[in-house]
This record gives sequence, C-alpha cells and structure tokens, in this order.
Amino acid sequence: MEKVLTYIQMNQDRFLEELKEFLCIPSISNNAENKKDVLRCAHFVVDQLRQVGMQQVQLFPTPGHPIIYGEWLGAPGESTVLFYGHYDVQPVDPLDLWVSAPFEPTIRNGEIYARGSADDKGQVLMNLKGVEAHLQAKGHLPVNVKFLIEGEEEVGSANLDNFIGAHKELLQADVVLISDTPMFDRGIPSICYGLRGLVYFQIDLRGSNSDLHSGSFGGVVINPNFALAQMICALKDSEGRVQIPGFYDDVVPMSAEEKEELVRLPFDEEKYRQDLGAPALFGEKGYGVLEQIWVRPTLEVNGVCGGFIGEGAKTVIPAKAMAKISMRLVPNQDPEKIASLFERYIRQIAPAAVELTVTRMHGGKAWVASIDHPAIQAASRAFEKGFGRRPVFVREGGSIPVVATFAELLGIPSVLMGIGLPDENAHAPNEKLDLFNFRQGIVSSAYFFDEMKK
Ligand code: BES
Ligand code: MN
Ligand code: MN
Repeated sequence: MEKVLTYIQMNQDRFLEELKEFLCIPSISNNAENKKDVLRCAHFVVDQLRQVGMQQVQLFPTPGHPIIYGEWLGAPGESTVLFYGHYDVQPVDPLDLWVSAPFEPTIRNGEIYARGSADDKGQVLMNLKGVEAHLQAKGHLPVNVKFLIEGEEEVGSANLDNFIGAHKELLQADVVLISDTPMFDRGIPSICYGLRGLVYFQIDLRGSNSDLHSGSFGGVVINPNFALAQMICALKDSEGRVQIPGFYDDVVPMSAEEKEELVRLPFDEEKYRQDLGAPALFGEKGYGVLEQIWVRPTLEVNGVCGGFIGEGAKTVIPAKAMAKISMRLVPNQDPEKIASLFERYIRQIAPAAVELTVTRMHGGKAWVASIDHPAIQAASRAFEKGFGRRPVFVREGGSIPVVATFAELLGIPSVLMGIGLPDENAHAPNEKLDLFNFRQGIVSSAYFFDEMKK
C-alpha cells in the first residue's frame, strides 16, 4: 500500500481540481432544462473512468439520463467489487439562501460548498481516485472492480432496475460498494447497515371549475384548502403516530442486541435539537431519536399548495389544492401494500364535496444487513486505517432503493462506506463536503480494495 498512499499524497491537489470540475456541472436530473448538463456530466464520468484506467467504459442511454459502466477485471481468482453511485444532483432552490453559488464550488473552513459535493459527486470521485491510486501507482488492482454510476437517483432511478435486470451478467459481483451516506458525526467513520424505504404520492383536490369570488360563493362550496388541511390532520395524531389502518402491521421491533449497540453511540439529544434550530423535537411517542429514524416508519407532508399566496389580500375560494406526501418505510414493510393502504385511507377521509386525484410517484424498499459479512468487516478495517479510528455501525433514515434491487435481482450484498456529515446540507442550500473526509475517504477506498483481497 506504500506506493498507493504516496500516489494519493502526491496527487491531492489535482484530485481537488477534478472535484471542482465535477461540481461545476449542474446535473439536476429533475429539471428538463438541465438535460444537456446531465449528459455533459455523464461524459465527465466516462472520461474519468477512462482516465483512472477502467476498461470497457460505456455510456448506456436510457429513456431518462444515461447510465455509465466501466470495469477492470485483471485479477482472476479474486473477488469482484461493484461500485454504485450517482452523478445527478437535487435542484438548488431556494437560490437566495446559498452563501456561494451552488455550481461555483467554494472552499470555506476546509469544506467545499456546492450542490452535489456530498450527495454524491464527492463520494463517487473519492472511490474513482481510490481505484486510480492502485492502477497508476502499481499498474493493477488487488481485486476486480466494476463501476455503475447513474444519473437518475435523485428522481427515483426509474430506468435502473430494468438496466440491472437486462445486464445481470455484466454486473455480476461479490459485493456492492456504495458511498452515499453521512458519518454518524465528525471524526467518527461509520458503516451504514440499514436504510429506510419510500412511498411517495401527490394528491390533488378540486372543488369547482374555477376560482370563485369568496363573497358570492363563500359558504356554499367546499374550500379545497380546508379539505386538504383536514385530510392532512387525519394522517398523524398529536403523538406522531400515523393513522393509516394497518400502517405498522409489518414493522419489526428492534432487537435487544441492536438496542444495546444503539445506546452506546455518542448521541446528545439536546445538541441535536440545537443544531437543528428546533424549539423542541417532535416524534413518535415512546421511541428515541435514533430509533425513530432507523427503525420506525413515518409519514411526511413534503409540500402543500393552494389558493392565493401573492401580495395583499384577494377574496377568493381556490378551485384546487395539492399536497406531496411521502412515507419512509422500514424493513419488512412492503411498499406496494403501504401504497394501497394509503390510497384506500386517503380516499376514505376525502370529503365528498371535493374531487380527489391520487398519483403514485417513485419509491423503494427498505434494507438491513448483517454486519458480520466479511466485506463489511473489510470495510471496517479500511476505515480504521483511513481515519485512524474504528468505525461505528449505524442505520440511516434515507433511502437508496437500488440496494434492495442488488440483493433481490443479483443476490449481491452491499457495503455502505459514506463520508458525508450530518450537517452536510444534502438536498438543502449550502451543501458541503469536508475536505479532510474526502482525502481520508480516498485512502479508505484504496484500503478497502486491498482488504478485499483473498
Ligand atoms: N444519498 C441519499 C440517500 C441517503 C440520505 C442515505 C441520507 C442515508 C441518509 C440519496 O441521494 C437520496 O437522496 N435518496 C432519496 C431516494 C428517493 C429519491 C427515492 C431519498 O432518500 O429521499
Ligand atoms: Mn445520494
Ligand atoms: Mn440525495
């Protein structure tokens, strides 16, 4: 590893320049007007894969954004690691809250600020550089490596499952490596062994053909804003319990061993509250914060919209109201089943005086793994060498639906070695990546491939 580590040390500045280049591309998968930028970003990834020494590098067009593949299979008899990551990013609004522009990467206090820095470009590049260090310093990797990098993760990976199903042979591997999660806290390398799933809906309410004069019609027609508010209130009680019948039926309680591990983590609830700037925490009664995020399902109203929100006062009854509602699921909850429970309940609580349209959006299954897997143990040793400290094992509340696909369609386990931070501002203004973590992440990635050698 000596040569590999020296190579990383010697090329640090260039790695940072390349990260900046990557971050300058506004690859917002959700925005039609950024389609060309997303494509440009896909080509950046292709060029990177070639530059680091990957072979058979290919850009696969999809009905959405391209999927990129590359491989290095020069270690016969050794394991194959399939790296998965995404080069697309979330939209940047509200733009006025960014201290520096989202696609003009700027370093402040040892952290690089840009959309996609933590989620997930920085973490993708860190693994590319881990591979590059082996290939350029020694001419070979300790194991076989494949890269699968998509451009639609932030919009639900609509074309990924099909791609995986159609390329089972190409993607065959012993383990999937993913770096797309935060660390438990600064200075605490963390391996994530569980993710929540997701079911997402839009509901549209219509009360009349057109907005109405609230004087002429107020009192005789329903106001869709009212109907929506009442429906939303019926989704969760004041103790944070989701009211959809059957919602909790398949939830598996946390094991005693897992609970024991959980309370050992250095978690300070009061500091957590303060960091969030929340007057008080609110969550499902009877469960601690980490339990709520890791092993309890939840329901959120992601956005509502309806009626007059302009300057001044307008006396109007809106014709329509809309809400985006999603549920985070835990292992053993079936997204299909939860989706139909939600739909049945939302139809049941909708007043007869509104016309209700329910639209199902993206989603995916939750996932949990056993930390005894040899690849997870290899990741643990790699992190210990990279960060000088034993990692903790954590679950996360976010979702990476493809992890379940890898397990079900290909039978491959996943290892999640993320180096983001809880305050990375993913999906929010001022997203950032700690450059110390980026550097040590490259070292840890290089060690991981080494530790995977038989
Ligand atoms: N990197 C995140 C997933 C994540 C976030 C894992 C926080 C652990 C903690 C990923 O890019 C993401 O945002 N996923 C979406 C999935 C959705 C679009 C299907 C999510 O969790 O909302
Ligand atoms: Mn991500
Ligand atoms: Mn994300």
